[in-house]
Amino acid sequence: MTNLPLIHFHDFHPALSDFRADILAGLKAEQKFISPKYFYDPQGSMLFDRICELPEYYLTRTEIAMLMQCGDQIAASIGSDTILFELGSGSSTKIRLLLDAIRPKCYIPMDISKNHLFQSVNLLAKDYPWLEIHAICVDYAGSWNLPPGLRGKNRIAFFPGSSIGNLSSEEAVSLLRRVARLVGNDGGLLIGVDLIKDIGVLEAAYNDQQKVTEAFNKNLLLRLNRELGASFQVDRFQHRAFYNRDLDRIEMHLASEGEQVISIAGELIHFKAGETIHTENSHKYSIAGFQRLALRAGFHPVKVWTDPDDLFSIHFLQAQGV
Ligand code: AVJ
Repeated sequence: MTNLPLIHFHDFHPALSDFRADILAGLKAEQKFISPKYFYDPQGSMLFDRICELPEYYLTRTEIAMLMQCGDQIAASIGSDTILFELGSGSSTKIRLLLDAIRPKCYIPMDISKNHLFQSVNLLAKDYPWLEIHAICVDYAGSWNLPPGLRGKNRIAFFPGSSIGNLSSEEAVSLLRRVARLVGNDGGLLIGVDLIKDIGVLEAAYNDQQKVTEAFNKNLLLRLNRELGASFQVDRFQHRAFYNRDLDRIEMHLASEGEQVISIAGELIHFKAGETIHTENSHKYSIAGFQRLALRAGFHPVKVWTDPDDLFSIHFLQAQGV
């Protein structure tokens, strides 16, 4: 599908059909769980945008300030003749802060949400008429091929927002290995990673006063009601978000108030009093800890930026021997 001359769309039809099976498997597990990728229905995506504006949620604002302040340094590390991939491009907001400095030959945003991708890329193309864009609708964690005929030799992947934090270290290494193969030897990775810090600051970011994060977490249950005909009474579940010091991660859960039985997609799920559904992990890293993880995937550290309060880090790494 071609729209404006410089935009090309490639739809790899990411499979969404296993939603029901995924949810049921998670709710039947010993520790009930739901993958955080299911947060992002239209309501959930709107709530997430509001989270990014919260006073307690320092991640987005800090990363954006760093991209603005260090844009020239970042561009200098990246170099020229660039093909720029973005994993989970969403609204393509952050990349705008880098495009004028990097001046890539082509930009390849990848996102699972087709409409969102389509709209964002159309807006982006209006503001950057010189930019060749190949938008790819895909679950970047799944399998897909590169569009043919790409210009630019220096392949760079951009993975902002500490989205890597949702993954366990094994999952993170295997995703980064795929990214390393995508960019090839001497290819680069520019990645935003949230830092380990004071627990009070971390826990406040996931327990905001306006309760937007609570609504975001509980929207999962509402989504199951809407899409799978589930019978969750949302006020019978509590939002829990706490820092797990042993595993260096924020965990989010939904805890059942009292014993209850829920019907969902023709099945019954039993909850003991206080039993939880584990809905998200958000891993935090030290700089050295993230560099060790990236090395296991073939990415060698080149440069790292942090903000003055050491809240957030942006790493530039290079793939070697992949
Ligand atoms: C999008 C995964 C980076 O872990 O901070 C925000 C998601 N969850 N508030 C994060 C999230 C609750 C966010 N990531």
